[in-house]
Amino acid sequence: MVIPVTDITKPLACPAIYDLARPLEVEVGCGKGRFLTGRAAANPDCVFIGIERMLGRVRTFDSKTRRLGLVNAHVVRLEALYTFWYLLPAHHARTVYVFFPDPWPKRKHHSHRLFGPLFLSALWKRLEIGGRLEFATDHEEYFHVVEDCFAADARFARVAPRERGPDEWTEFETMFRGQGLPIHAAAWQSLPADDAPLAPLAIPPEDEPREGVFRRPSRRIEAD
Ligand SMILES: C[S@@+](CC[C@H](N)C(=O)[O-])C[C@H]1O[C@@H](n2cnc3c(N)ncnc32)[C@H](O)[C@@H]1O
Repeated sequence: MVIPVTDITKPLACPAIYDLARPLEVEVGCGKGRFLTGRAAANPDCVFIGIERMLGRVRTFDSKTRRLGLVNAHVVRLEALYTFWYLLPAHHARTVYVFFPDPWPKRKHHSHRLFGPLFLSALWKRLEIGGRLEFATDHEEYFHVVEDCFAADARFARVAPRERGPDEWTEFETMFRGQGLPIHAAAWQSLPADDAPLAPLAIPPEDEPREGVFRRPSRRIEAD
């Protein structure tokens, strides 16, 4: 089901996400939902939320959950860093999945990449202590960048990634593996640390949300 977004300053309109009695798993850039809807079908007691900014993919995810009668899989059409920073409950997610995030291979676009100190701070805040980030990519250079990001952050420890069979591959993964491309996977676990509040993000005026307009934030987003 699509979580309606009418006010991005309010908690997401999906009570199941805040039900602390049920585990929460989140997928960033969930695409059409192949992976997450499969997990939701296999784990009816867990709540799943996909974050995806492309409308067509959100609609396909939604159709899939309706066709399969999944009441525990939700998708929200929002930007991932913003959603992690402001809209998810603190220390509740058991697992966060980031599979095949856009690698932004050109140097001048590196600032658009998801992984960096800001995302790791928001990620740590949303994961339960001991919760996991599962990551996979076909892009070797970006894989090492992400490894370096986590290595520089003492709030995470590297662990073995979960093995996934073909029925748990994402859409892009199915395509890349079909082309024989090497896949790089890793996982990290969150550790106890100082739980300081997240400072407000400084959003440049041109990126301030306007009614009916969705924009990717510019490279200049930073914490105050
Ligand atoms: C390369 S695709 C991979 C899709 C899916 N994870 C898979 O493996 O099949 C990256 C996806 O992440 C979404 N995406 C990229 N950056 C995002 C962001 N900052 N917030 C939300 N979605 C994002 C894109 O729209 C796209 O659907």
